[in-house]
Amino acid sequence: MCGIVGYVGFRNADEVAISALRRLEYRGYDSWGVAIAKDGEIVVKKNVGAIGDIKDFSLGGGKIGLGHTRWATHGKPSEINAHPHLDCKGRIAVVHNGIISNFRSLRERLENEGHTFRSETDTEVIPHLIESWVERGEDFADAVMKTAEELQGSYAFVAMKADDARLVAVRYKSPLVLGVGDGEFFLASDIPAMLEYTNRVVYLDDGESVIVSKDGYRILKNGVEVEKGIEIVPWSIEDAEKGGYEHFMLKEIHENPRVVEDTLLEYLGEDIEIDSRIFAGISDILFVACGTSFHACLIGKYLIEELAGIPVRVEYASEFNYSNPPLSRTLVVGITQSGETADTLEAMRKAKKLGMRVLAITNVLGSTATRLADHVIYTRAGPEIGVAATKTFIAQLTVLYLIAAKISNLPPKEIEELLNELRSIPQKIRQILDMEDEISSISETFAGYENMMYVGRGIGYPIALEGALKLKEISYIHAEGYPAGELKHGPFALLGEKTPVVACIVRDKTYDSMLGNIKEIKARESPVIAVANEEDDEIEKFVDYTIRVPSTNPILTPLTYSVALQLFAYYVARLRGCEIDKPRNLAKSVTVE
Ligand code: M6R
Repeated sequence: MCGIVGYVGFRNADEVAISALRRLEYRGYDSWGVAIAKDGEIVVKKNVGAIGDIKDFSLGGGKIGLGHTRWATHGKPSEINAHPHLDCKGRIAVVHNGIISNFRSLRERLENEGHTFRSETDTEVIPHLIESWVERGEDFADAVMKTAEELQGSYAFVAMKADDARLVAVRYKSPLVLGVGDGEFFLASDIPAMLEYTNRVVYLDDGESVIVSKDGYRILKNGVEVEKGIEIVPWSIEDAEKGGYEHFMLKEIHENPRVVEDTLLEYLGEDIEIDSRIFAGISDILFVACGTSFHACLIGKYLIEELAGIPVRVEYASEFNYSNPPLSRTLVVGITQSGETADTLEAMRKAKKLGMRVLAITNVLGSTATRLADHVIYTRAGPEIGVAATKTFIAQLTVLYLIAAKISNLPPKEIEELLNELRSIPQKIRQILDMEDEISSISETFAGYENMMYVGRGIGYPIALEGALKLKEISYIHAEGYPAGELKHGPFALLGEKTPVVACIVRDKTYDSMLGNIKEIKARESPVIAVANEEDDEIEKFVDYTIRVPSTNPILTPLTYSVALQLFAYYVARLRGCEIDKPRNLAKSVTVE
């Protein structure tokens, strides 16, 4: 996820910017850049890759400047696409975090007006818009405000003008914090960037803008000045690098609502903005993936068959490489958050060789998967640092719902209802995050076991598989995911008081059968935790613990139940003292077969 910083004061802005950017490195990035204004000129330096060990970074030491770490979303990682971005004359510089969803139409308009663009980014429209307002006689700060009114999507951006002593920043649905020092001020997307200099901060809210000079700041909303209190941040720099969370995994679980929002923002406008040519003329779909992404595929199969009636197969990428799939008009979909998983890439290569059309769903722009595929759909999760996939899984699911809805043959009204319900999911996930203490206290009872079983039926089955994978990889408890109906065909032999069972029970056609299974499990003395719909009054009579999740359309339950199970796995692993972000023997990106 991009990190932005801005500085105005008495220090050398280039030095402050580079040290602030280093503090934001934990957010993940693929390129970076710094700009300062000095002697009426803007000086910029951009680079692909890590900031690394650059010693004595200097752009000549102006007292006002910007910095940015970029996580590519629109346009590959490259020097040209890195921020800061400039207007035509190189007099206005901007750093931005977020997505400008109407950038195409804005860019087209600006190009028609004579503006020349250099990058592929959505961000570059911002300095050009500011320039066009300045050229019409607006003061710089007013030009920035007017620009913000033209933007749709999510943004926090900071703008600087070569001959102006002010930074102007606006926030809408992306984080932005103002740091208040003595005779100096900082802007950043996250507190660690400024903690070395000040712990006095003002949190900006959506729709607020701030005009900052070395002499002070003014915060405005809808053109009216607002008073906001300064807050003292009690963190050390080390605490703050994980945004105050103890582990990246927990931070990333907490990012789930925003990830769904960003992915919807990208692809769900008045219509579902996914290229329909990807699916034109296909007879069936074959998903290939590994690990958590494989579980997303299983959910994708359920969704597409249910909503679109198109046959879907799902294969472990590593196994697909030994199979002889029948040739047809199959669309092969490789799901991989990293875009670099060797087995998934190999499966995609094989599909290409067999003449099949290949779609990649990935979180990493410019990754190998995107170069192999005929089509790419990006998830908008931002970088994931914890080895356990959490927010990227939820982002993959969000994309799969949109695909299933896009190719659905159900009546438009039903799809509209589903999409409306999908729009309410971020809020429901927030409610689950509010139940963190409750889930953590349930996990205390289970942290001492060495075996656990997760079961479900229908769409509850892949939820169970993913819940079990999360638990085993970070807590080292042996956990199995099973279709509940299969228990009596073998796994019953494992049940008993030492093997708790997590039952993912969904209020759909599978409900009664699941209830029957839960009774069978209880009869074998296994402790049972149910993950259930909050309106389910019955379930508590049959189980030992219930994690009650806000009600939604049953087909959407993977988005909510999975977050509850991510938290459960996290707290169990934490109690067991495991190295949660870097579990033993595992790597974030598995680039060997
Ligand atoms: O980057 P990918 O989605 O292709 O990665 C696939 C698996 O390696 C990954 O999901 C792995 O299972 C995670 N550690 C699960 O949390």
